[in-house]
Amino acid sequence: MATHSLLIFSLVIYATAFSINLSHADPRTDYVMRMCGKVHVQNVSNYFKYYSNITDYMQDEIYRNKFAFKDVGEPPDRLYVLAQCMDDLTNEECAMCFTQISTLIPSCFPSTGGRVYFDGCFIRAENYSFYREVLGPEDTKRCSGIVNKRQEFSVAVDEVLSQMLLKAPSFRGFASMHETSNGISAYGMASCWKILDRDLCSNCLSEAVASALSCIPSTEARVLNAGCFLRYSDTSFANDSNGGDYSEG
Ligand SMILES: *[C@@H]1O[C@H](CO)[C@@H](O)[C@H](O)[C@H]1NC(C)=O
Ligand SMILES: *[C@@H]1O[C@H](CO)[C@@H](O)[C@H](O)[C@H]1NC(C)=O
Ligand SMILES: *[C@@H]1O[C@H](CO)[C@@H](O)[C@H](O)[C@H]1NC(C)=O
Ligand SMILES: *[C@@H]1O[C@H](CO)[C@@H](O)[C@H](O)[C@H]1NC(C)=O
Ligand SMILES: *[C@@H]1O[C@H](CO)[C@@H](O)[C@H](O)[C@H]1NC(C)=O
Repeated sequence: MATHSLLIFSLVIYATAFSINLSHADPRTDYVMRMCGKVHVQNVSNYFKYYSNITDYMQDEIYRNKFAFKDVGEPPDRLYVLAQCMDDLTNEECAMCFTQISTLIPSCFPSTGGRVYFDGCFIRAENYSFYREVLGPEDTKRCSGIVNKRQEFSVAVDEVLSQMLLKAPSFRGFASMHETSNGISAYGMASCWKILDRDLCSNCLSEAVASALSCIPSTEARVLNAGCFLRYSDTSFANDSNGGDYSEG
């Protein structure tokens, strides 16, 4: 009887611990945007096969590195895919984000490809090698309809954007920080795809910063470039315990 209770007790503890862990995971799978190409592939059934071949390979790779790219097949239908998570996600959260985001690309087919942006991860597929693209005609921004017209907020946003532009290219393409002006804070995150070197990252982010500045006084902005993602907000959204935030505030 005692052993039995103890077993049940342990199971409850175990289940509780497990569900707490799961509910703590935040892969930030909030959908930001999907863009699909306009040109169609020659043989879409091959393309689907290549895509599942690539995502099978990427599932392990992304868990290890939070970044993966691979191409498979014969031109003109050779398929190139690149995926990456924001660095503040844990490896588990990254894998969860990838599992979800990778299901959204096939709905672009028979287009030659597309891009999907979540708050926590990114994926792109094309029939050509786009890996080192920094900017493209599809690049866009999302400014929230809610605004904060206080001067302090604009100052804080301006400051967090400049600091990220300064730091991210030298910190493996990633920065997550906040700045405060007279008690008003702005939070930011910038991420270049890891295939880009420091200079290309810098080019991408300087365009992204210019774009984000034009969103002020929106309280939230996201910039979706070919080579990088940038976001600012009036609320904290990063996992700071993961070594992301190194600003003084
Ligand atoms: C929950 O997370 C903690 C620390 O992250 C870990 O030590 C523990 O083993 C995890 N529990 C389960 C059931 O995964
Ligand atoms: C696509 O390629 C497969 C395998 O190479 C082939 O069996 C199939 O007939 C092709 N389909 C079209 C529409 O060309
Ligand atoms: C994926 O492609 C590679 C290279 O073309 C091939 O060796 C491998 O068998 C393929 N895997 C699957 C699951 O189709
Ligand atoms: C991509 O697909 C289009 C449409 O089939 C084709 O015209 C183009 O040449 C392909 N690109 C490459 C690099 O093969
Ligand atoms: C944040 O990161 C830490 C360190 O990697 C991790 O233990 C924690 O579970 C993460 N929290 C969330 C909400 O993702």
